[in-house]
Amino acid sequence: MTSFTVNFKSVQSQIIHCTESIEIRSFIERYLINSSTDQATVLCDTNTGLFFSENSGINLKELQIGSRFIVPAGEEHKNIFTITKVLEFFSQSMKTRDSLLVNVGGGVVSDLGGFAASVYKRGIRYINVPTTLLSMVDAAIGGKTGVNLGHIKNQIGTFHFPLAVLIWPGFLKTLPEREWGSGKGELLKYSLLGAGFSPEEIAAGNDPDAFGQLIRKSVAFKTKIVAMDPEDSGIRMILNFGHTIGHALESEALRINIPITHGEAVAAGIIAEMHLLQHSELMEDLMEKTLHTYHRLFDPAPVRNILEGDPSEWILHDKKGKGNTILLPVIPFNGSSIQTCPLTADQIAEGFTFLRRYL
Ligand SMILES: NC(=O)c1ccc[n+]([C@@H]2O[C@H](COP(=O)([O-])OP(=O)(O)OC[C@H]3O[C@@H](n4cnc5c(N)ncnc54)[C@H](O)[C@@H]3O)[C@@H](O)[C@H]2O)c1
Repeated sequence: MTSFTVNFKSVQSQIIHCTESIEIRSFIERYLINSSTDQATVLCDTNTGLFFSENSGINLKELQIGSRFIVPAGEEHKNIFTITKVLEFFSQSMKTRDSLLVNVGGGVVSDLGGFAASVYKRGIRYINVPTTLLSMVDAAIGGKTGVNLGHIKNQIGTFHFPLAVLIWPGFLKTLPEREWGSGKGELLKYSLLGAGFSPEEIAAGNDPDAFGQLIRKSVAFKTKIVAMDPEDSGIRMILNFGHTIGHALESEALRINIPITHGEAVAAGIIAEMHLLQHSELMEDLMEKTLHTYHRLFDPAPVRNILEGDPSEWILHDKKGKGNTILLPVIPFNGSSIQTCPLTADQIAEGFTFLRRYL
C-alpha cells in the first residue's frame, strides 16, 4: 500500500494506492466510522452499480451504507440535470452537512459526485473509489470537480478535495478494452511530462497487476504538481497538456453524437499540440516516436470522423484563455523550464489540419 497526501486549505486529502491483496470494502469502511451509516451515500453509474450485486465477485454488496444513488453511465450525462437529481436525492433523504459521499466509478462519477458534494449545503465530505484506469491515474485525484454545459466540456466546476481516494486495481478486471485505451491516453501524457516511464511501457497488455507500478508513478507525479499549485494558476496547467485540442474534439463529438473516450481525444490532442510547439530537430524525433505509440494504442477512426466537421469553435471556451490567446502547456524538453506558450485560437486550429493529414 502506498499513500500520498495533498493539503488544500483546511482539507488533508489522502490518496491511497491499495494492492490487489487488500480488501477494498474494509478500506472504504474505515472512512465510514466517523459518519453514521444512514448519512453515507454511494454514488455509482449503471455499470459500476453492478459491483454491488451478488455475483460481481467484488464484495461491495456487504458495505454497510445508508443509500445508493445510480446515475446513467456516459459522458452525455455529466451535466447539470444529473446534478439536480443527485442534489434532490440528498435533500429528500435528509442528508446533513456531516454526510459522506462515496463515489464508485470512473471520471464521470467522480466529477459529478465531487461537484454535488461541493455545493450541497455549501460542501460535504466525499471519497473517490475510482474504477477505470483513467480515473485511477488522473480524474479521481486533485480536487477538480465539474460538469459539461451543453456540449462544452467542464464549463461548470469547483475545487473541492476528496477526503481520500482509494485506488484498487482489482476493479480493472472488468474494464472494457476501449476504456483501457482511454486510460492509456492520460498515461501517454504522464510519460511525456516525465513521470518516470516510457510510452512503450504503456503499450503492454491489459493486466491490472502489471499496471500497478504505472498507476503509482502517475499518482505520485500528479499529487506532487497539485500540491504545488492546487488551484491551477501556474505549474498545474502542464497537466492540461493535450487537453485544449482534446476537449475541443470531445465537445464536437458530443455535438454530432460520435462516441469518443476522453483518453482517445487527449492522445490526439497530444499529437496536435506537440506539432504546434515543435521547435527543434530533437523534438521532431520525440514527435515521431509519440506518433508511432499513438498508432499502436489507438484506432484513429473516431477522431477522423470528428475532423470531418470543424471542432475549432470550441477552442475559444478553453479555460486557459488569456486576452486573445490561450496558454498551451509545453512539455518539459531539453532542460527547458517554460511551462506554457500563448497561441491564438487560429494558431491552435492548425493542430486540426495536422491531425487530418497524419492520423
Ligand atoms: N477532474 C479531473 O481532474 C479529471 C481528469 C481527467 C478526466 N476527467 C473526466 O473524466 C471523465 C472520463 O472518465 P472515465 O474515462 O473514467 O469515463 P467514465 O466514467 O465514463 O467510465 C467509462 C465507462 O466505463 C464504465 N466502467 C467504469 N468502471 C468500470 C469497470 N471497472 N468495469 C467495467 N466498466 C466500468 C463506466 O460505467 C463507463 O461506461 C471525463 O468526463 C473527463 O472530463 C476529469
